[in-house]
Amino acid sequence: MVKNRQNVKVLLSEKVISNRVKELARQIEADCGNVELIVIGLLKGACYFFADLTRKLDLNVQIEFIKASSYGSGQVSSGTVAITQDMSCSISGKNVLIVEDIVDTGQTLKAVLNHLWSFSPASIRTCTLVDKPSRRKVSVDVDYIGFTIEDNFVVGYGMDLDGMYRDLPYIGIYSKLNN
Ligand code: IMP
Ligand code: MG
Repeated sequence: MVKNRQNVKVLLSEKVISNRVKELARQIEADCGNVELIVIGLLKGACYFFADLTRKLDLNVQIEFIKASSYGSGQVSSGTVAITQDMSCSISGKNVLIVEDIVDTGQTLKAVLNHLWSFSPASIRTCTLVDKPSRRKVSVDVDYIGFTIEDNFVVGYGMDLDGMYRDLPYIGIYSKLNN
């Protein structure tokens, strides 16, 4: 395995992720038909998932990014979500797909949904690669879910701990070393 890290145990391999991303793309295509989509990725966590998913989607898409921040440092969400970078086009009357790395308490996705609905899009669909439903604090509908996992802190394939481990090509469970 490339990029082994001592305190990260592989949960979802590169191959498993790539197969699932292809399946999600087929599912989204089937639902969206000929609709044009504005696909909005949430930075930075969704960067690799977004890049892989959009390249697999056989639809007319426009790509955009927004940045929402909820986490201070470490593994606990601050609960307050700020949109720190907004998209650069109008989504009024358009069909939007939000692409997120992981839904945990649900607060980030909920805040992003509220933000985007304020621009009057025609529709918003939501897609996350990883879902941790046992941690949910606010209810939020997710249309497409790659993997549902237990309450573990995961890193890799875009997801970080204090800015590190995003570059791992797999998703792994982070555990603190005892020494
Ligand atoms: P939420 O607002 O609690 O749903 O958190 C969503 C955001 O927190 C995600 O977009 C991630 O950036 C981050 N996050 C939540 N759980 C994890 C995790 O297990 N590993 C890395 N980042 C996480
Ligand atoms: Mg994120």
